[in-house]
Amino acid sequence: MIRSVILGSGAAKPRTVVTNADLAAKVGTSDEWIQQRTGIQQRYIAEPDETTASLGEAAARAAMDDAGVTVDDIDLIILATSTPNNTFPATAVNIQNRLGMKHGAAFDLQAVCSGFVYAVTTADTFIKSGQAKRVLVIGAETFSRILDWEDRTTCVLFGDGAGAVVLEAQEGVGLSNDRGVLTSHLRSDGSHREKLYVDGGPSTTQTVGHLRMQGREVFKHAVAMITDVIEAAFEATGLTAEDIDWFIPHQANRRIIDASAKKLKIASDKVVLTVNQHGNTSAASIPLAINTAVKDGRLKEGDLVLLEAMGGGFTWGAVLVRW
Ligand code: UT7
Repeated sequence: MIRSVILGSGAAKPRTVVTNADLAAKVGTSDEWIQQRTGIQQRYIAEPDETTASLGEAAARAAMDDAGVTVDDIDLIILATSTPNNTFPATAVNIQNRLGMKHGAAFDLQAVCSGFVYAVTTADTFIKSGQAKRVLVIGAETFSRILDWEDRTTCVLFGDGAGAVVLEAQEGVGLSNDRGVLTSHLRSDGSHREKLYVDGGPSTTQTVGHLRMQGREVFKHAVAMITDVIEAAFEATGLTAEDIDWFIPHQANRRIIDASAKKLKIASDKVVLTVNQHGNTSAASIPLAINTAVKDGRLKEGDLVLLEAMGGGFTWGAVLVRW
């Protein structure tokens, strides 16, 4: 059976760090409130010359280096983003061009904070169907460009950045000790639109718009949705929380991550936590966290990794992958 094995990862962060104290000087907030409610200490914010495409390109180059492949080896690029450089063409095609790639295909995928989980699942489907041998999956965002910097309930939560992985078709035997993506489960429910959305768009306001969120409402649904889809991943594979080596969740809020891990009985020392450093970088948060755990030596070949995300739509999903 064909498995989509992760060959390498990479990340790119904007040059500028913005601390909670920096924000407290501009809006009515405090380091104490932000840390207590979210666990965030700082975030990276893109300078004008840094865009979703430039950050995505840098992360992609790092991931290909780490994987030991070149752009000639890639047949498909999937970019998960909600903050494209332009309405069209797809920012994935922009990145394809920046990488000097003229073959294959590239497209954007829009599932907000669940984008990376959706993109890995899509890549896995292309690989399993034989349509692609090596796929570059990127999560890249510049949420700072769609924040209302006068709204303290949202502007303190998000950051910019990019992460990427290279997936390759390899033969597995079909058991849960195979390397690669073992199972993935995606969900969405558009009836929750008003709880987390952007109040602009080409077909409605002809503007880009700003992010609007009823944080408490999102929080209320998050843990139940996350744990439900993870239970589905366990059921599909026969694996349990005890088998997990690393839990790499979407990094929105430390309290959501802690509550999900507790409900699933995943030990806290198996949780990769980067929300303190990056804030919520939407589709980039999981690949940024992956790269952090790879670079600091925690994540090793053979480890069983649980990825999970939930966000605007609502969309949510989980992936179990053996490194
Ligand atoms: O990645 C997509 C998924 N998104 C999420 O997962 C976000 C989910 N939601 C959350 O993370 C939390 O709901 C927040 C961090 C957004 C907010 O935390 P909360 O504990 O739910 O706070 P709250 O919205 O209930 O607000 C509590 C108080 C309010 O004041 P009053 O009404 O109690 O007087 C807010 O006005 O905190 C106030 N507040 C702030 N105070 C200082 C809201 N934002 C701030 C702020 N600084 N930045």
